[in-house]
Amino acid sequence: MPGIVIVGVQWGDEGKGKATDLLGERTDWVVKFNGGNNAGHTVVIGDEKYALHLLPSGILSDGVNAVIGNGVVVDLEVLFAELEALHARGVDTSRLKVSANAHIITQYHRTLDKVTERFLGKRQIGTTGRGIGPAYADKINRVGIRVQDLFDENILRQKVEGALDQKNHLLVKVFNRRAIAVDEIVDDLLSYAERLRPMVADTALLLDEALDRGEVVVFEGGQATMLDVDHGTYPFVTSSSATAGGASTGSGVGPNRLDRIVGIVKAYTTRVGSGPFPTELFDEQGEWLRSRGFEFGTTTGRPRRVGWYDAPITRYATRINGITDLVLTKLDILTGLDRIPVCVAYDVDGERFDEVPVNQSDFHHAKPILEYLPGWKQDITGARTFEDLPVEAQDYVLALEKMSGTRISVIGVGAARDAVIVRHDLVD
Ligand code: GDP
Ligand code: IMO
Ligand code: MG
Repeated sequence: MPGIVIVGVQWGDEGKGKATDLLGERTDWVVKFNGGNNAGHTVVIGDEKYALHLLPSGILSDGVNAVIGNGVVVDLEVLFAELEALHARGVDTSRLKVSANAHIITQYHRTLDKVTERFLGKRQIGTTGRGIGPAYADKINRVGIRVQDLFDENILRQKVEGALDQKNHLLVKVFNRRAIAVDEIVDDLLSYAERLRPMVADTALLLDEALDRGEVVVFEGGQATMLDVDHGTYPFVTSSSATAGGASTGSGVGPNRLDRIVGIVKAYTTRVGSGPFPTELFDEQGEWLRSRGFEFGTTTGRPRRVGWYDAPITRYATRINGITDLVLTKLDILTGLDRIPVCVAYDVDGERFDEVPVNQSDFHHAKPILEYLPGWKQDITGARTFEDLPVEAQDYVLALEKMSGTRISVIGVGAARDAVIVRHDLVD
């Protein structure tokens, strides 16, 4: 069962990094297929805590081949800073390969991201400001810069000129900023070229050959289903395909080679940035969840918005991604509640919706219809089998499993690498 996709079910930060790391020992390859350094994955190994943004989390496991796929947008400054930080901590990063077709985030993308957000005012998306949207816009608009362009200075210069042509008008005339010089960008990009060269490869071919040999390839999604540009809460989304289909287009591996689709879902819900969020809490229960769950962004440090578990969202994500297994994370955070609210459907202006409404305005107005499940008080961080859990926690998991329509194969009971209960193996 070699091709395993990891996707976020909700609005990100479900614990995808930890899930990839969990598979680490049995993984030969790990591929990041979408997004860029807007992602933030925290992985705790022993006493060490690692925060990764651009590199796939699987890089933390010895002997794993890490790949940055063609669907990723790469900020080279961030790439080398992250690699250096890992070297300094003794992590072997020599197996990293970068797709020649991945697009590059430049200074003008970062600038445009920030000025556009400011321009939007109240309507802003709340992006991470890393240049993600503008870099993907250029890709789709066919004026993007690809990794392979760094190795032909003439082509690079022409492409940067082409890209800056309209943008400088926009920056100067609309946003009242200074124009960006072609040389400035070209020189900056070229300064990375020789360090990058040995990492650049036809990664789609490497992955195909690895799958032919029966090796285990994990496709690590950034962001999540509800942030996907097609299937999320548009326009309050990221600019890439964060769902399972993106694993194929973003890596160059055919969809028939994706054997297992693993959805990572938190035992409650969080969201960073703007947009609808039906189960959001604004009261002291929300404060309690945020501080107990350490819900502050890995990338921007922003407090995450928090709310209860939303079963229609998991059903939606299961359908859109073809999820075969769920990993339920952060169950330990709910310890101490007398009863745990769970959203089972929505009320939209008096009408009941059992599924996520297709109309964005309806979703904006959706009020959660809650059911209450019994809570538990015992510490569960030491549980390693399902039976170690208090019966109320077992029942909570079984209830979510029933509502979601997919089996919960792994349960997270703490941030540590080994703080998991495995009910069904994700690899075999
Ligand atoms: P990602 O973006 O999906 O990789 O998730 P983040 O790393 O942004 O956020 C998840 C956070 O939850 C990280 O700090 C993890 O260390 C932590 N975490 C993951 N699983 C568990 C769990 O089961 N229990 C607890 N308490 N923390 C967890
Ligand atoms: P991980 O991989 C949570 C959100 C931003 C914003 C929207 C668009 O850690 O789960 P962007 O900078 O991508 O154009 O911002 O998407 N966002 C995330 N929220 N986790 C993430 O990644 C996110 N990546 C982007 O907050 O609302
Ligand atoms: Mg994150």
